[in-house]
Amino acid sequence: MSIMQKIMETVMQFTPDTEPDPLMHKHGYVGKPFSRVDGQLKVKGEAPFSAEIKLENIAYAALVYSTIAKGKITKIDWSEAKKADGVLAVITHENAPKMNDPAPMDPTGGSSGAAASDLPILRDEQIHWDGQPVAVVVAETQDQAEYGASCVRVEYQTAHADVSFDALKTQAITPKNIMGEPPEVEIGDAEKGLKAAEFVVDNIYRTPRYNHNAIEPHATIAAWDDDDGLMVFDQTQMLYGSRNTLAKMFDLEPEKVRVIAPFIGGGFGGKGFWNNTALCVAAAKFVKRPVKLAVSREGVFRIVGGRTLSEQRVALGAGKGGKFTALIHSGITATTTHNNFPEQFTFPARHLYASENIFVGQKIVNLATIANTFMRAPGESIGTFALESAIDELAYQLKIDPVELRKINEPEKDPTKDTDFSSRNLIEAYRRGAEKFGWRNAAPRSQREGCWLVGQGVATAYYPAYRFPATARVRISSDGTAVISTAAHEMGMGTATVQIQHAAERLGLPIDKVSFEYGDTDLPESPMAGGSNQTVSIVASVSAAIEKAHRELLALAGDDYDSPLSNVKYEQIEAHDNGIFSKDDSSKGETYAAILKRAGQDYVEVEASSSAPMEMMKYSMGSYGAQFAEVRVNEESCEVRVSRFLGSFDCGRILNPKTATSQFRGGIIMGIGMALTEETLFDERRGRIMNPSLAEYHVPVQLDVPHIEVIYNDIADEHTPLGAHGIGEIGITGVAAAIANAVFNATGKRIRDLPITLDKLL
Ligand code: MOS
Repeated sequence: MSIMQKIMETVMQFTPDTEPDPLMHKHGYVGKPFSRVDGQLKVKGEAPFSAEIKLENIAYAALVYSTIAKGKITKIDWSEAKKADGVLAVITHENAPKMNDPAPMDPTGGSSGAAASDLPILRDEQIHWDGQPVAVVVAETQDQAEYGASCVRVEYQTAHADVSFDALKTQAITPKNIMGEPPEVEIGDAEKGLKAAEFVVDNIYRTPRYNHNAIEPHATIAAWDDDDGLMVFDQTQMLYGSRNTLAKMFDLEPEKVRVIAPFIGGGFGGKGFWNNTALCVAAAKFVKRPVKLAVSREGVFRIVGGRTLSEQRVALGAGKGGKFTALIHSGITATTTHNNFPEQFTFPARHLYASENIFVGQKIVNLATIANTFMRAPGESIGTFALESAIDELAYQLKIDPVELRKINEPEKDPTKDTDFSSRNLIEAYRRGAEKFGWRNAAPRSQREGCWLVGQGVATAYYPAYRFPATARVRISSDGTAVISTAAHEMGMGTATVQIQHAAERLGLPIDKVSFEYGDTDLPESPMAGGSNQTVSIVASVSAAIEKAHRELLALAGDDYDSPLSNVKYEQIEAHDNGIFSKDDSSKGETYAAILKRAGQDYVEVEASSSAPMEMMKYSMGSYGAQFAEVRVNEESCEVRVSRFLGSFDCGRILNPKTATSQFRGGIIMGIGMALTEETLFDERRGRIMNPSLAEYHVPVQLDVPHIEVIYNDIADEHTPLGAHGIGEIGITGVAAAIANAVFNATGKRIRDLPITLDKLL
């Protein structure tokens, strides 16, 4: 942490909170289980992904990928490809349009860039990872483009590639920072505390690489106009960051670039800015036609980074009563020299437990691979696997119920930040979860049903609560409708639905009179859909815009004797029944339509930005949960089946129980994959991903997923917009640990490296 940041945090401790939102505890549209406003479109197949946009005269592109991890191209023979039917162009580093280095993403929420890595794209003969695009073939049809790509012959001179994590981990280095936080934090003397402890666990936990497999593979359509303007349909969850990256790469004014993401078929952190978007734009420039570049499933494995692998140590020391006297969480992840993403696996341990002595520290090794990136709760998902497995191990040793052990070590203040929590009801989530799940702390290997060993496990879920600055526009029209506009992203979470609920309530309009425009950089800037920030960030900007609109309407209404709102101040008004009214005297007020008509205006339209998220400095802000799993492990084959799952969450106020439950459940399903089946098989000699398909990279399917129950405290956090926290990521955290703990409970075997495949249990 910089000194400035530390000073700011200290100053913030003495700064009073802003006024609480009057809608914080109001139960109107907010909090109701509305169905997705785009639900009909989705089920009818009418919600287009970017690859489905129809443009005239479109050409199709396919990529050729490097088959070595490091070295240089000595020759590219594309004579055969050029002769193939329908092929319009073969683009390589020798003839590609000029592209500057991509602008890297800002993990703290800025929009200066969106690229995972700053490596040049198709600019020279150097190869930096196995899978790097080395040529683009453009043709009249997709099949012709792919056939053309298969005809391109590339010769390489290979160089030594650092691709083995095991070979390099002894030389791991400490990164400058972890998402802006210090890489190491120590309270007291953790090693000393550990040595003195009566009860100790001290183990290494391993998690493999995971690859992104959203239902929609990456795809872009790019079209240039005669005036050097660029329009791009792209699957990005970072609209403005992508626009600014393209502007930089192609020497354009940002205003000349328009990026549109109508619907996104799942993001999970994998839909930032990758080579495909730049290459599609370059190809369109080259052939002077609109080009579509739809990446194959294998291509997504080659050119889109995933979750890094990790080796983590968790050591806990405790006395007989269970109170921690030492907590150590340290370890190593892999990254590259061209990105800055040391996955923050120590973040949960910084905020979850009280301990006299704490040490957290992260190191990295740089490998010649595709740049790793965000993947749903990056850091927290793998970090909670290690930490929450270790706590289970300690509970077993202490003979204390693992739920009880967490209660015993619940902190009063943030243990490493030393600030108050803005809102933390984790123990309540445990209480409610344990009751609903029917938690029992049975002895290991004591429950069975026929040849199935049965076990239960529990773990804590944790994810920070972030808010980023955002801007929104609101237009209120004389026909009694309102439109909210901001460059937000809809990648499955119900963005439009929840924002319409919010805006309708704040405007006092019927819900069907409010619409929401998003997914386009022609709209006001909104932050990336990442870090589970989007909902609260937009709520804050929409609130600011509506306040501004109300002030303007009040001014329009005027202070004349014929105005029902004369002498009413902004502070005195509330919105309901299609207009604004005095709080003290509801006869004093007017509908928006009436105000606008009297003023002779068709509408008011204003734009406003949210305040800086100072609350994040003042408080420790997080979301919490208790994950309960029941598994059945076949005694003969050792296959593991999750038979029951319950997630009990503490994530502030729930704005829409229907969409929220679905988000939590989706996270839990992804956690089941992380625990049991998903794993990128990586050749440690050559640096190549060996299972780049859904046939060999196993995501959970319907039969792998039991009924998942989701409950939540629904307690408003007074320091966030509407009392809500982001919920997109927390669902996956703690799941792998809950399952691993349940597997131990069923079998008596502790598996410390994911995924828990049957060979590890045999
Ligand atoms: Mo999320 S991993 O920030 O999409």
